[in-house]
Amino acid sequence: MKKAIGIFDSGVGGLTVYKAIRNAFPSEDLIYFGDTARVPYGPKSPNTIIEYSLQNARFLLQQGIKILIVACNTSSAVALPAMQTITDIPIIGVIEPGAEQAAKTTKNKRIGIIGTEGTINSEAYPNAIKKLIPEAVIFSVACPLFVPLVEEGWQDHLVTELVVKEYLTNLKMQAIDTLVLGCTHYPLLSKAIQQIMGSEVTLVDSAMAITEYLARYIGSESDKQQGSSTFYVSDNEEKFTQIAERILNDNIKKLIRVRLYESWFQN
Ligand code: DGL
Repeated sequence: MKKAIGIFDSGVGGLTVYKAIRNAFPSEDLIYFGDTARVPYGPKSPNTIIEYSLQNARFLLQQGIKILIVACNTSSAVALPAMQTITDIPIIGVIEPGAEQAAKTTKNKRIGIIGTEGTINSEAYPNAIKKLIPEAVIFSVACPLFVPLVEEGWQDHLVTELVVKEYLTNLKMQAIDTLVLGCTHYPLLSKAIQQIMGSEVTLVDSAMAITEYLARYIGSESDKQQGSSTFYVSDNEEKFTQIAERILNDNIKKLIRVRLYESWFQN
């Protein structure tokens, strides 16, 4: 039987990653899990993020997937090694693909990273970039208000412009030429971010970077049949559907609410 690619995120934001994968690999079956009962992960402690990520990974592994994509930057930054201990299938987080893309993009080796507090505090992006360019100069900024602004649908809103300006004005003065959007939601604010940073700064979207990376594992498409898409959430189906349809510009056809089954908590 054809096995699916499993994708999880703390909520709806990972749909930016789902969308990029769906477009790049139309014949693949995709299973998406959004942990809408426990979002946001960004402000939580590393131990909690690891615990939740392991539970989410186990849930998807129980669906018989062939590859696990960790769309959530915070989980990717903090919990990847822990998840790798529970399975032999490939687990791909967004950090390495994003770091590779940033390293390929920068010319002056001055790179900005923006993300949740969890992602920024972990220093996962700077560590991954420094492996590729040891002399890179990296500036990291946590932008915790970006996630709620996107969830509110305020991509094109004066308040968003002001918040983006507040967070990024100092970063703009650091003469970076590349900025990693290190959070699932931030690609949805790229217009406002680009406006503040100016056209000389290239934005790196880890959702796009991960599809290139994924191609190394699944190769080029041969199956012509359209793959299926199944969505699971741990709470709030209606809100998920509403935001998801806005992000995807498409209808969500198969959405299932799952409860926090005991099996999630097995070691
Ligand atoms: N998915 C998270 C990330 O990419 C953002 C939302 C959250 O804080 O849970 O880091």
